[in-house]
Amino acid sequence: MKIKKAVFPVAGLGTRFLPATKAMAKEMLPVVDKPIIQYAVEEAFEAGIEHIVFVTGRGKKALEDHFDRSFSLEHSLRDKGKMESLKQIEELVPPTGTIIYTRQNEPLGLGHAIWCARDIVGDEPFAVLLADDLIQTQAPVLSEMVQKFDRLRASIAAVMEIDMDQTDKYGILDATTLEDDIVKINDMVEKPNPKDAPSNLAIIGRYILTPRIFDFLGRKKKGAGGEIQLTDAMKTLLKEQPIFGYKFEGKRFDCGDKAGFQMANLAFALQRPDMKDKLLHFIRTIEKEY
Ligand code: UTP
Repeated sequence: MKIKKAVFPVAGLGTRFLPATKAMAKEMLPVVDKPIIQYAVEEAFEAGIEHIVFVTGRGKKALEDHFDRSFSLEHSLRDKGKMESLKQIEELVPPTGTIIYTRQNEPLGLGHAIWCARDIVGDEPFAVLLADDLIQTQAPVLSEMVQKFDRLRASIAAVMEIDMDQTDKYGILDATTLEDDIVKINDMVEKPNPKDAPSNLAIIGRYILTPRIFDFLGRKKKGAGGEIQLTDAMKTLLKEQPIFGYKFEGKRFDCGDKAGFQMANLAFALQRPDMKDKLLHFIRTIEKEY
């Protein structure tokens, strides 16, 4: 039961990023010099994923073009002798036939977006990556989760502890610790008020799910915010199958949020030797002004 397909829901409206997201998916916004989505696609291939399934809405063209060859650009770069840039744009294009696009024709929620990929995924376990959860880590989170899946043979969600006053932004767990980095999920609730939250353990945008989830998503039950929520379908799945949480190590940035996006840019840029010193100097200078 190898995990071969990864679903990338990229059809959200990205209202927190308007006007930047008026004509373009927020996943195409760059962190340093790569669109957010490229980090997640690289993470998926590194984890052994063979097929990428994009569930798109607006901004489909920019995304398609990004992962496709651009003969005119390649030609110009070759003419100008910019071989390093040429290599970079050639390497980011996955082998032909490995990317599949489907469309969510109405933004009815994350759960609905994943359900749109049901026929492409078929009857096999699959990964889901929310690209706007950008994770800086030594060991890529999805690779770790694939290994855990090999052993646990059940659905797994990436989880992390958050500040208690933030629970209304996440799916929150009632869970039992099994190992240092594995919890068994007993129950979950989408975006609870801190006073109703069962813990401060939150689901982050990396999942491995069994195909049974599609049956529950297909019921199209509306949940928090009037949207079809993945958390609600997982809650129903829990009645039949175990679901585990993987406590990953690393820094996670919420790139769907303006401040989180700026922090991600800073954190990733500071890892680049060509920018680090300039940026640190700038930060130390402006810190005095604020
Ligand atoms: P968000 O909850 O961040 O929603 O979606 P959003 O619409 O993208 O952003 P805001 O809140 O309006 O600013 C989490 C993920 O689910 C996808 C998004 O693209 C994002 O990757 N999504 C959400 C869909 O694909 N379809 C939907 O109907 C909703």
